[in-house]
Amino acid sequence: MPKQDKQIQRKVEHLFLAEKYYTDESFADFDNVRLLHDALPELNYHNIDLSVDFLGFKASLPIYFNAITGGSKQSAQFNNELSKLAQEINVPVSSGSMGVYFRIPETADSFKTLRKNNPDGFVIANVSAKATPEMAQQAVDLVSASALQIHLNVTQELAMPEGDREFIWLKNIQDIIENISVPVIVKEVGFGMSQNTIQKLKNIGVMHIDISGFGGTDFAQIESARNHELDLTYLDQFSLSTVESLIETKPFQNDLDIFASGGIRTPMDVIKALKMGAKSVGMSGLVLHHLQKYSYEETRLFFESFIVQLKVIMANIGAQNIEQIKKAPIIYDESLINYAKQRQIS
Ligand code: FNR
Repeated sequence: MPKQDKQIQRKVEHLFLAEKYYTDESFADFDNVRLLHDALPELNYHNIDLSVDFLGFKASLPIYFNAITGGSKQSAQFNNELSKLAQEINVPVSSGSMGVYFRIPETADSFKTLRKNNPDGFVIANVSAKATPEMAQQAVDLVSASALQIHLNVTQELAMPEGDREFIWLKNIQDIIENISVPVIVKEVGFGMSQNTIQKLKNIGVMHIDISGFGGTDFAQIESARNHELDLTYLDQFSLSTVESLIETKPFQNDLDIFASGGIRTPMDVIKALKMGAKSVGMSGLVLHHLQKYSYEETRLFFESFIVQLKVIMANIGAQNIEQIKKAPIIYDESLINYAKQRQIS
């Protein structure tokens, strides 16, 4: 792989800076939401079922490893471990943006490892909203993807001196959806989505949305650290937290598959996001942090404990399976009630 290439260098910097700024503290607003326990759950802990249907795939857990990387040597190593872990715990795994592959085909192996390690799993390809339908199909074919993610990243592009400046994407997204062989998930990259955005996506036939809200990895911060001329960290002020974004999805939850990500740190965050309507919950920063800071085995143990904790929480709220989480009572802090009121969402 050409080391000097700027796009590849950017991938290396993203991995490094995401870890540099990683914190266990999440700003996704989950602390402003409470679930209430059920003193009579009437269930057997050992029979709790964590499985979910993820676009037709039976995932063992209501989580997935969201888009992170590909292209650099470090990305290849990381994707190797990430996909092994996804295979072991049987959850979907996404590639990072595959745009670099079209410029530098030698980067192919850094993506293909996702499928190689995970022959029967759910692997998701990832392209930008300006990719042509042909490129999108090639990205899918490269990893024999089960689905495609298209990322929306206006704030990130604007924070990059070398970033895109034309954001006329809807017609292109529609073209991809109408011509591709797999389901398409449109996702943000950590700034969230409003009702208005979701409605625009729905109007062009998008059925699956990952709101990827604010609260974890912050690309305004990461790109500002890369861009030594301008500090654009304030751009994250426009963002919607993951919980706010989930409130925004309420009018759409019967018609669209809503996935949630952004600032997921704990099993409790996962259960709260599921209660608020997510079909499954994505994480990037959390798994990236563990695989960068700890060994593969330590990371696997972290997720084993994560699974136990998901079950403990479910027993406490009387949910035998993921569907039953929807019945658990929920309490919102005043700030979120005020948010929903001003946004006219009940
Ligand atoms: C990302 N994310 C991302 N998303 C995407 O669609 N394509 C991409 O190439 C990348 N690249 C990327 C690199 C790194 C280092 C990170 C940490 C993240 C965004 C990611 O999928 C997710 O939407 C956000 O990171 C928010 O989730 P977390 O990190 O707070 O769990």
